[in-house]
Amino acid sequence: MSQESALLTTAPVAGDDHVPVRKVFVKTYGCQMNVYDSDRMSDALSRDGYVATDAVEEADFVLLNTCHIREKAAEKVYSELGRLRELKKARASEGREMVIGVAGCVAQAEGDEILRRAPAVDLVIGPQTYHRLPEALKRARSGERVVETEYAIEDKFEHLPQPDKARTRARGVTAFLTVQEGCDKFCTFCVVPYTRGAEVSRPVAQILAEAEKLVEGGVREITLLGQNVNAWHGTGPDGRDWGLGDLLRSLGEIEGLARLRYTTSHPRDMDDSLIEAHRSMAKLMPYLHLPVQSGSDRILKAMNRRHTAAEYLALVERIRAAQPDLALSGDFIVGFPGETDEDFEDTMRLVEGVGYAQAFSFKYSSRPGTPGAELKNQVPEDVKAKRLEKLQILLTQQQRDFAAVCVGREIDLLLEKPGRLAGQLVGRSPWLQPVNVDAKQSQIGDIIRVRITKAGSNSLFAEMIE
Ligand code: 5AD
Ligand code: SF4
Repeated sequence: MSQESALLTTAPVAGDDHVPVRKVFVKTYGCQMNVYDSDRMSDALSRDGYVATDAVEEADFVLLNTCHIREKAAEKVYSELGRLRELKKARASEGREMVIGVAGCVAQAEGDEILRRAPAVDLVIGPQTYHRLPEALKRARSGERVVETEYAIEDKFEHLPQPDKARTRARGVTAFLTVQEGCDKFCTFCVVPYTRGAEVSRPVAQILAEAEKLVEGGVREITLLGQNVNAWHGTGPDGRDWGLGDLLRSLGEIEGLARLRYTTSHPRDMDDSLIEAHRSMAKLMPYLHLPVQSGSDRILKAMNRRHTAAEYLALVERIRAAQPDLALSGDFIVGFPGETDEDFEDTMRLVEGVGYAQAFSFKYSSRPGTPGAELKNQVPEDVKAKRLEKLQILLTQQQRDFAAVCVGREIDLLLEKPGRLAGQLVGRSPWLQPVNVDAKQSQIGDIIRVRITKAGSNSLFAEMIE
């Protein structure tokens, strides 16, 4: 699920003629929330005259927004920092400054350890404090090595830098909106409760205001984000306790907002009101990312998932009864400590029983500080690799089968951006697959009726219906 993105180029604040233009290069690792956070950090910097560049060698400020979820993700950052050190030296020899910053979950988890391991780094800033980035950057530019890793999440939510209309427009017709951060579930494999802290929900008014601003900037589809998004709760304007289902219904009333999605969910937090939203809200796309991690009750217990395989299957059945057109997606970990061949076969059986439209699967990666890392019976790497290969063959086949049954169907398609070929645009199906169709550039943002004609390996093809 790794994503990397350099930020969009937008001009500094209009009318602010005296702000010197500096260039920032942002590289984003990890999940969609990091994509959202990178945009917010770039919004904050734009007020100080920073414009985004996708040429790292031109940047005055290089910011890595990092992921700590698996060892490989975290190690990538250090190899990138090694390369940047050389670049920084080269720029210094030309008398030019290059400030290097590390943000995101590695910043939170490792703090000043990063300064020790990577001498070129000037600034470390965690996911809960990045609203203070402009001020931290000023300190770094005056020679201080800055570490800002306070858990200031409510303060951050209140002061989240918002983009202006032009920046929103430049980012396209779909957008992420963080509504919840952190996790109290403490799955024994996972670093998130330590990097992103305890579960915190953003207040309703903040979320509605941000959604309305996005729609004013041309956004037609919003994906609500949270590490545990369906644990979101708040107080509605009616004074009642709201869950995610209520929030979705309220967002559904915003005129011009055509589609809603949310990710990522924990099975324990799928309540009736949210399931009801899937039954009754046409704007809520029939797609659900509902990680199960394993199909073995023994392993689920060791992972502290707080449900059994049968409970997960029963839940899937209830959601599908409410929305028969639902595409399910999941996350899986193979080789959790103590996982036997029989446990793994239970996972294969669960996958066969569910039928996933999409899935992400990983070898267990031992993370320092998590209870899983203390367990004795770690599974050898080669066993993990074999299990992962077997599982991925099945999941890929299911993804293909799902795409194949889409062929011939008529759907509403939100046209998002230019496709690979000239004269083509690409959008997402209700089930999140990319769909290519012949259409004019001026139609970006339109929702058109199409018939799916063909399934490729990772995308669909469609024709417009007159
Ligand atoms: N090892 C492997 N995969 C992990 N995930 C989370 N922690 C680990 C780990 N220590 C996976 C889970 C989660 C997804 C975001 O990453 O499947 O749902
Ligand atoms: Fe990675 Fe999790 Fe942090 Fe997202 S929240 S960047 S997946 S560690």
